[in-house]
Amino acid sequence: MLDIKIKSIFNRILNKNNRNQDKNLLIGKFIRNRSTREVNKNAAIELEALLLHTDCIAGLYYPTVDENQDYLVCDESPKGKLPVPPQKFWHWYGLNEESYLKGGKALAQIYRESAKKHGISFQHGQKMLDFGCSGGRVLRWFEEEASKGVECWGCDIDAAAIDWTQKNLMPPFKFFVNSTAPHLPFRDDYFDFIYAGSFFTHIKDMATMWLLELARCINKDGVGIITIVDEGSLEKLRNLSKKQGDNAPRGAQFIAENNITRETLQNQGFITRDSSPWWLGTLYSRDFFIRRASVAFDVLEVRDNMNVYQSGYVLRPK
Ligand SMILES: C[S@@+](CC[C@H](N)C(=O)[O-])C[C@H]1O[C@@H](n2cnc3c(N)ncnc32)[C@H](O)[C@@H]1O
Repeated sequence: MLDIKIKSIFNRILNKNNRNQDKNLLIGKFIRNRSTREVNKNAAIELEALLLHTDCIAGLYYPTVDENQDYLVCDESPKGKLPVPPQKFWHWYGLNEESYLKGGKALAQIYRESAKKHGISFQHGQKMLDFGCSGGRVLRWFEEEASKGVECWGCDIDAAAIDWTQKNLMPPFKFFVNSTAPHLPFRDDYFDFIYAGSFFTHIKDMATMWLLELARCINKDGVGIITIVDEGSLEKLRNLSKKQGDNAPRGAQFIAENNITRETLQNQGFITRDSSPWWLGTLYSRDFFIRRASVAFDVLEVRDNMNVYQSGYVLRPK
């Protein structure tokens, strides 16, 4: 059934020039490039949503060699200074290399301080995970901890971004591709610290299962940090929309265009726009998110604007 649906949407994506090319190759290529010129963008978004919200589908779209279906994944080890990923793996963070690096560094320091405040010492043998790490923007700033023997992991469903991190940042870090199914391949209590910056803002399904899964993997003295868009973000987002107009983040434009207020969030609990992990945005009411998180965690602290305009929830597993 899914197969038939995918094929019919995919036929709408193809234009007449590329009808004869290999479909599996084109799927990856079009969706990754998010090209609006070559494809029917709405159909591409529809297809991406269908694929990515299918529980059994794992990390997607490794780079492929154009002429055949082989993955373009070769073995390389990082040399010396940590390299910066290509801009396509920045996930819209930073306008240039300097601001990309600066933003990640500042956020790493905020997460580090919050974790320390709640008892994480980053000693040799401790373990941490950047969940939804994309190109390692934040994790790369835990190099000192990694060199002291803290096991530092990152994961994402963006297989191409993880492919880059595995080639360029591993060691000192460790990376893997996870799937859209709410499961992490670690035993109970494995981690001392997990942060998920702007991950829950990019899913609409199974948020509670992900909360339970994250809690399962953090030990009882450990800390989780989750950042989301909630009431605490509205003022900053509204100002961004006023100042930057069409260049403002999509969330800011959405709030302005739909006049999303504190009351709207409180009445609805959560609101989702668009589809797929890269286009989708979920906004929460704080009460709603705390109620959801409380099935798995005690909420130690909620901090406005922890991650730029996103509120940070500092959590301990129950
Ligand atoms: C806005 S970016 C944030 C990236 C990173 N946390 C940072 O602060 O630079 C959201 C990330 O969540 C990832 N993502 C979305 N759905 C996911 C899922 N089900 N599992 C893991 N990562 C996911 C996206 O691929 C993307 O890298």
